[in-house]
Amino acid sequence: MSPSDTPLVQVKDLHRSYGKIKAVDGISFSISGSTVHGFIGPNGAGKTTTMRVLATLDMPDEGDVLFEGRSLMDYPDEFRPEIGFMPDFLETYVDITVEEYLDFYARAYRLSTRRKKKRLADVIEFTRLGKLLTRPAYGLSKGQKQRLSLGRVLINDPRFLILDEPAAGLDPRARVELRTLVRQLADGGKAVLFSSHILAELSEVCDSVTIIDGGRLCASDRVSGLQHQIDFGVKVNVVLDAPSGEEIERLVRALAEIPGVNRSEEALRGAWFSYEGEPEVRSGILTRLMEQGFKVTDFHTASSDLEDAFMQLTERKTSS
Ligand SMILES: Nc1ncnc2c1ncn2[C@@H]1O[C@H](COP(=O)(O)OP(=O)(O)OP(=O)(O)O)[C@@H](O)[C@H]1O
Ligand SMILES: [Mg+2]
Repeated sequence: MSPSDTPLVQVKDLHRSYGKIKAVDGISFSISGSTVHGFIGPNGAGKTTTMRVLATLDMPDEGDVLFEGRSLMDYPDEFRPEIGFMPDFLETYVDITVEEYLDFYARAYRLSTRRKKKRLADVIEFTRLGKLLTRPAYGLSKGQKQRLSLGRVLINDPRFLILDEPAAGLDPRARVELRTLVRQLADGGKAVLFSSHILAELSEVCDSVTIIDGGRLCASDRVSGLQHQIDFGVKVNVVLDAPSGEEIERLVRALAEIPGVNRSEEALRGAWFSYEGEPEVRSGILTRLMEQGFKVTDFHTASSDLEDAFMQLTERKTSS
């Protein structure tokens, strides 16, 4: 399903300080319905602080959050049922079973008996908690707790899900399962904000991404746009078939003369270059090299995933 064009949630110039610490220092981005929106940043970047404001658990010092164009700050009680917040740890009470835990939240949301029954059945099936219902919640494994935590936020069927590091501590299989669940939720119409610093994980599941560092915005875009953005100046490696030293020098010079190439340097068995322009420029460069008689055996981007995007964008921000 393609994400809707109108953002469900708009974060506008958000500021939140703790004493002298500017945890969030002017962050703006939008989240659409039917979308998984990744929220990336290193430890202490301000992700949890932002998410708590979005969940109406905290107030910003400045800025606003619009939900369908209306201020969340002005109508927190009205919008709260539309928002599900999954914190990065699960608080459970001693001696409460999984079933009692879910039932407690279903009652807290004041669901009618009929609706409560239906929602509990749906959520238990979706999160595969059926076999764990009589187990004490505090004794669940990390992955089981995450599923219970996700189940809890889904009980009242909110349209906007805020998941703070939901994949932290999960094994590879549980990560894949979580991604599948999150994808299903977005395909069903929900807007999902999913934070992580494990970037590779997000590139698989996200439609759009916001990257923050030190409380400031580094980038916010669709994943495809972000990859395009970092393609500016991205490094490409050219490997030749058993080149001599002179051949490598000739390659470096040839690359430097091609329009769009802004840097070229020797590398093992060839050279690397960086260029500016559309990704298609790259194929033109390869054609030029072939025309000049270079025996190219390999031609690949040295960096293109989100991990590198993150490194580049945060470096760019700190050096600017
Ligand atoms: N209640 C608080 N009191 C004082 N400082 C705080 C508080 N909450 C957050 N901070 C500070 O604000 C900054 C941002 O913290 P936040 O928890 O939002 O980061 P994060 O991106 O979620 O990091 P992590 O990846 O480690 O979870 C940090 O410097 C943190 O120490
Ligand atoms: Mg956090």
